[in-house]
Amino acid sequence: MKLEWTMSLPVEPGLLSLMQIAADQAARAEGLALPCGAAVRFCGDEEIRTLNAQYRGVDRATDVLSFPAIGWRKGITAGKDPARLKRHFDPEEGCCFLGDVVISLDHLRDQARQFGHSEAREAAYLLVHSLCHLMGYDHMEEEEKTVMREKEEEILSAVGVTREGKAAVSDETLLALARDAMTRSYSPYSHYPVGAALLAADGRVFQGCNIENASFGATICAERTAMVKAVSEGARQFETIAIATRDTPGWPCGICRQFMSEFSPDIRVLVTWGDGKYIEEGRLSTLLPHQFELKE
Ligand code: THU
Repeated sequence: MKLEWTMSLPVEPGLLSLMQIAADQAARAEGLALPCGAAVRFCGDEEIRTLNAQYRGVDRATDVLSFPAIGWRKGITAGKDPARLKRHFDPEEGCCFLGDVVISLDHLRDQARQFGHSEAREAAYLLVHSLCHLMGYDHMEEEEKTVMREKEEEILSAVGVTREGKAAVSDETLLALARDAMTRSYSPYSHYPVGAALLAADGRVFQGCNIENASFGATICAERTAMVKAVSEGARQFETIAIATRDTPGWPCGICRQFMSEFSPDIRVLVTWGDGKYIEEGRLSTLLPHQFELKE
């Protein structure tokens, strides 16, 4: 799914990565016959309130607004009407534009706090809900509501995101987030991009890539980038780290093993390479059996 982002407030890239994965899963779950796209705007409560008043006559802020570009017949969603989808194919863009999604970051943050899960999870939930509307689902009547909820659940559980409970981010999602982080690697000296996605015990995911430096020793590995981001945001317990490299397995280096062992000496380590073709799993206690500890 081609997502075009606009934002009137700064948004963390980790949020966008999980949303992209969720959108791709939505397209798959719906069985869209052609590539599709949507415009996603992030704003604050004030802006969404204005839009809500202007387009829906409801003068209050809300979490998400959906503006479908295609008029679907009742009960016939995008996957069931490929002919209609085809009529909306834009050869210049190479996709069918499904419509606009507007998300209030104020609501997103409040709701994430209320549900006790990450902002990325809430963002994925709101986007999936809205994309379902853009694909022709609705929840005005009981019957269609059940169908919409089922579709949302199908999409969200495939990416390891559910709104209730504490369903962990799936390995598949974590590996995809590591591969996504790898695309932001800064490695002009080694040409060896690495990406990491670190799952904290509280459900948050932190991404990291390797960042090299002309003074080679100043380079930081992908795993430590993710770790320092996490610890500086208050996370100290970790469940899994996924590490992605291009052609050869990227087991963490000695410094990263020692660094991770400070916080989670038995963290699960997943490595993936070959564009997700290969996946191996290990435990830090096996990779670093005698970590250094300061003992009096
Ligand atoms: N690198 C990592 O990101 N993680 C590791 O565990 C080992 C190495 C990076 C550092 C450098 O940018 C490149 O890989 C080649 O050493």
